[in-house]
Amino acid sequence: MKRMFLSGLKIFYIMKKNNFYITTPVYYPSGQPHMGHAYSSILADVFARFNRNDNNKVYFLTGTDEHGLKIQKTAEKKGLEPVIYCDKMSKVFKDLAKKLNLSNDDFIRTTEKRHYKAVNDLWNKLFKSGDIYLSKYKGWYSVSDEAYYNSDEVIEKNGKKFSTFSGSSVEWVEEESFFFKLSLWQNKLLEFYEKNGNFILPISRRNEVINFVKSGLKDLSVSRTSFTWGIKVPNNDKHVIYVWLDALTNYISALNYPNIEDEFYKNFWPVSLHIIGKDILRFHAIYWPAFLLAAGLKPPNRIFGHGWILSGDEKMSKSKGNILNPLEIIDTYGIDELRYYLMKEVSHGSDGNISSDSLKRCVNSDLANNYGNLCQRVFSFIKNNCNNKVFKTKNISESDKKLTDQTNIITKNLRKDMLNLNLNNYIKSVIDISFLTNKYINDEEPWKLKNNNVEKMNNILHISLEQIAKISILLNPMIPNASTKVLDALNITNKNRNHDFLDGNILIPNEVQINELNILFNKIN
Ligand code: ME8
Ligand code: MG
Repeated sequence: MKRMFLSGLKIFYIMKKNNFYITTPVYYPSGQPHMGHAYSSILADVFARFNRNDNNKVYFLTGTDEHGLKIQKTAEKKGLEPVIYCDKMSKVFKDLAKKLNLSNDDFIRTTEKRHYKAVNDLWNKLFKSGDIYLSKYKGWYSVSDEAYYNSDEVIEKNGKKFSTFSGSSVEWVEEESFFFKLSLWQNKLLEFYEKNGNFILPISRRNEVINFVKSGLKDLSVSRTSFTWGIKVPNNDKHVIYVWLDALTNYISALNYPNIEDEFYKNFWPVSLHIIGKDILRFHAIYWPAFLLAAGLKPPNRIFGHGWILSGDEKMSKSKGNILNPLEIIDTYGIDELRYYLMKEVSHGSDGNISSDSLKRCVNSDLANNYGNLCQRVFSFIKNNCNNKVFKTKNISESDKKLTDQTNIITKNLRKDMLNLNLNNYIKSVIDISFLTNKYINDEEPWKLKNNNVEKMNNILHISLEQIAKISILLNPMIPNASTKVLDALNITNKNRNHDFLDGNILIPNEVQINELNILFNKIN
């Protein structure tokens, strides 16, 4: 009886699906999207796809952040109404999401009705609880960062003032403003970071945040009166809500907040993972949890603040004008190639230089010569010698067993790598499996068995197909197009394109009919 009960529990545990809500920042549509935006979005997409393949219920959100002085000024420069300008530019970001092959479930614009509703509700909650009060702001502001800076974060160069944090120019602002009582949250936030050791990753970023909070939090100005392009403060038309309080709320507007009793919200809040760049860590790791806690809502589960993509040695940014255009790279090399390169070669915690030389090297060695070649050689051999049919026997050789064992040892750690956001390790491991499989084929020389041991030849090919199927599912988050072609050619049904094989499921039936496979990756010269 006890045993039955236990196994019932175990089955329940295995069947239980996790919900996984992941977001990118909502980007400012104040210029053309660039490689930095593409990078954050692809990173989030990889985690979304991995989790779907892991049978979790996934919600993946991206979008655009359309209010504030920065957008208003940009629109004015173009001689357009902000709303017209945003309609046009938001579409450019939406199109990029398609080009990047993002699997986002939603694309939110902060100019949408559902978002206004959420921001108004959150403001009212904070106001009613006494967390917001009216006063006057006097201090530094950077329009380009849409951020307030303390005096000790500002330096003077050639008579102009700049933020030491971001390098952006700052201006002196004095105006009536509502304040959020951020100072009240200093100790509660420190306690929260202490209790949730993985709230901010990587660890270096976590320390940065903790030090900033320890150095003292001042109340935060959360409304502006010197311009109009934003969400009006409820019952006070003179003020628009600070663009960061507005923008951060997108993450719950998309879940139909304030309907917090609905399944949708309950399934996905708190968010599993906010993917952001390190430039906006303060907003996400300090302000956002403080707003949420003050409103009686749960803070996010985790924030990943990745490093910067550098071009030369400088951060790529709209204001610096040193933009590497992802669309050009996609047109020249292909989207899977770009996705794979950014995920494999950029170390996700730190800053990373990218160049077309290192892209070529990476694509050639991993995709063309390793995974692509593995697929090509096995598929064409089977086409030319076996009429696209392969069978498996019970005669497993020592080297067959060795390959399977080595593969199992490597795959055992993959879920953990993903859970710890150790994507570089994950990809390296999967490529190692592909390398081992190529080596197995070189050693086993199936071409020598064509006339004297068809059975053994079939076994070698069958195992190779099983390996290719596993590798393709594991690489699917990074290279969705190519991996789908391979899984199609293997006749693996959609239902089976998941990680059940990590728990021992077999992907290729004992007798299998495959289809022809065209070249996946061309070598780049
Ligand atoms: O900050 N390298 O929008 P934004 C890597 N609207 N990532 C980069 C990058 C680079 N060189 N440049 C930009 C905003 N990014 C706000 C966000 S969220 C509630 C509001 C990525 O258009 C990175 O994710 O300036 C960075 O945090 C984000 O784009 C900033 O985009
Ligand atoms: Mg920015």
